[in-house]
Amino acid sequence: MEVVGILLKLDEMMQLKQVKQQFRVLLWILMVELATSATVDSFIFNNGFTGTKLILNGIASITENGVLRLTNDTEQSTGHAIYPTPFHFVQPSTGKAISFSTTFVFAMIPQDPVYYGHGMAFFISPTTNFSTAMASQWLGLFNVNDNGDSSDHIVAIELDTILNHEFDIDSNHLGIDINNLKSNLSHHAGYFDDYTGDFRNLSLVSGEPMQVWVEYDGGEMKLNVTISPIQMQKPKRPLLSLVVNLSSILLDPMFIGFASSTGTVVASHNLLGWSFKMNGTAEALNLSALPSLPEAVLLNEKGKRWYLTTLLPVVVSVVLFIGIVVFIIFMLRRINFSNLLEDWELQYGPHRFSYKTLVIATNGFNDKFILGAGGFGRVYKGVLLKCNTEIAVKKVSHESKQGMTEFVSEIITLGQLRHRNLVRLLGYCRHKDELLLVYEFMRNGSLDKFLYHQDKPTLNWAQRFHIIKGVASGIEYLHQNSVKAVIHRDIKTSNVLLDSELNGRLSDFGLARLCDHNTDPTTTKVAGTLGYIAPELSRTGRPTTLTDVFAFGVLMLEVACGRKPINPYKEEANQISLMDWVAENWQKGTILDTIDSRLEVEGYIVCEIELVLKLGLLCSHPLPESRPSMRQVVQYLNGDTQLPPLSLAYLSFRVLALQQNAGIDLYPISGTIDSFVQSSDQPSEIIAEPYSDEGFRCRV
Ligand SMILES: *[C@@H]1O[C@H](CO)[C@@H](O)[C@H](O)[C@H]1NC(C)=O
Ligand SMILES: *[C@@H]1O[C@H](CO)[C@@H](O)[C@H](O)[C@H]1NC(C)=O
Ligand SMILES: *[C@@H]1O[C@H](CO)[C@@H](O)[C@H](O)[C@H]1NC(C)=O
Ligand SMILES: *[C@@H]1O[C@H](CO)[C@@H](O)[C@H](O)[C@H]1NC(C)=O
Repeated sequence: MEVVGILLKLDEMMQLKQVKQQFRVLLWILMVELATSATVDSFIFNNGFTGTKLILNGIASITENGVLRLTNDTEQSTGHAIYPTPFHFVQPSTGKAISFSTTFVFAMIPQDPVYYGHGMAFFISPTTNFSTAMASQWLGLFNVNDNGDSSDHIVAIELDTILNHEFDIDSNHLGIDINNLKSNLSHHAGYFDDYTGDFRNLSLVSGEPMQVWVEYDGGEMKLNVTISPIQMQKPKRPLLSLVVNLSSILLDPMFIGFASSTGTVVASHNLLGWSFKMNGTAEALNLSALPSLPEAVLLNEKGKRWYLTTLLPVVVSVVLFIGIVVFIIFMLRRINFSNLLEDWELQYGPHRFSYKTLVIATNGFNDKFILGAGGFGRVYKGVLLKCNTEIAVKKVSHESKQGMTEFVSEIITLGQLRHRNLVRLLGYCRHKDELLLVYEFMRNGSLDKFLYHQDKPTLNWAQRFHIIKGVASGIEYLHQNSVKAVIHRDIKTSNVLLDSELNGRLSDFGLARLCDHNTDPTTTKVAGTLGYIAPELSRTGRPTTLTDVFAFGVLMLEVACGRKPINPYKEEANQISLMDWVAENWQKGTILDTIDSRLEVEGYIVCEIELVLKLGLLCSHPLPESRPSMRQVVQYLNGDTQLPPLSLAYLSFRVLALQQNAGIDLYPISGTIDSFVQSSDQPSEIIAEPYSDEGFRCRV
């Protein structure tokens, strides 16, 4: 019995042990089951990646503040971050791919706003070993050989930022890649507005955090990808929606993670948060809990730096350039079309023309419209379009101070003077170094042309006499009638213009000086034209009304004889000086021999011619006090007063001079005399000296 009892006990004990063993095995299996199901189902990284057991490959790292940095600014690099445990994407019983869902927040920070890295991808892969995957366009997922190989069993969602013509639609897109970087479906980055349905572009490399959702519905075999800026709710309409049977692609188990690459251009690809769930919807990320990018500050700095180094200088230079251009245009306009204002200009303001008006009037100072070139500058013909008035515009260069003085003088003089035998100054304009005087247009040009140019018709005596009387009246007005006595100082045939009715009109008051009545005119520079300069003027340099009378006397002889005051190339020595020649003939009683051969001399005309010749001699008397005043001249010409006989002293002086010096004396002869304007700079060319008891002699 005892033996049977021991055996039973032993059997009992054995059975218990077995049960226990069985129990233990069951328990272990249970525990393993529990453990695996608890860890593999889902995860969320909401507060950064610090301390997580993610597998990091390549240059992937976790920054101090918990950002998962897949790549930094290292060129030609890859970076991977892989969840350490694989997931069962396939239902063992049916072999069907299970639904899954993941969402993540990323930020791509370009090193440079123009050039940046290749992008990143979320992937599902049977392996954690990407050592053979390549950088740049291969995104750290494939290489030249295994791209497109169905044995890869890789499903990826690419966020591609560089256009690679082999694979890509553009340089800013999302794509669903199955074993191949050539996406099965891709779309320009952006989202569809929930309300309007409009597509809104996003820039993946903006540096701004963006959220992506990747969801697979195992039942419908539909893979949806959605992206939106971080501030937004998930858009209802996915960006990508692809029906794909992942059962054949996904193995069991599979790892999930991110891959990223840089090329010769770089960007840091960052992951801020990540949530994943098998067979359900991934837990939503608490966006306010995400780690902040260290570059948030840095980026601003970079941006600022970029603004400072690139944008700012460009903007500044553009602004400067525009400013300078505007300034130049403004200045040009100022210089061109308005001019410096001076006291006297204000006084005579109404006469002012704008430069623009004159440019238009003269066809841009076209050479075709040059009327002549005087001692001061060119004269252009113009038409004032507004009133259809013909004008003459005299361009006076005033680079020299002298020119300016003369200009002002002329303006003031003319501003005050109105006489039918004076060329009226309509206005003026100042432009840069030029002064422009606007005159009435004198259709017939200057008197000297009629006297000496073959192409002009010969003036008959009546016309000549009318001109002489007109000019005399004009000079008289200057000397007597105006508020201030004006000495013309440059009376000569080329300064007498003829209007359409052949009235003589004095022009070119450039040398005129104002001087008060009855006061001795201040000594001024000797100026005038040789042949017309009174002997005492060259000696004293003092222009007076009587020096004007002298010049007018010469002019009268010129008009009557049709000869220049000095004819240096005349073979007959006594004909070199017109005055001497006339005087000589007058003395011989052959004065009519001197008159212009083109004139038909008949009847009473002879008296007029004689009057003019004698008056001419009287006016050009070497002694100023023997000359008549312009008032007297006008009276003689009008026949109001009888011309007194010429003094014997005058004649004897003349004849003596002729006999002694063969008649060359009163007028210096050298160079181009009739166009030569004597200025104070060459006073030595004329030496006047007292001669005998009552006359003067002028020598070269
Ligand atoms: C990029 O990251 C790697 C690995 O963390 C590091 O060795 C390298 O210095 C970093 N390069 C730059 C440019 O930040
Ligand atoms: C979005 O980007 C694409 C490609 O650059 C462009 O063709 C399209 O006009 C853009 N759309 C909007 C709304 O900006
Ligand atoms: C999906 O692919 C698996 C494996 O190739 C196959 O067995 C299954 O029939 C496919 N399902 C559909 C709906 O085509
Ligand atoms: C989200 O994160 C913030 C900051 O960590 C926290 O204050 C807030 O309670 C969180 N919200 C939720 C719904 O968890």
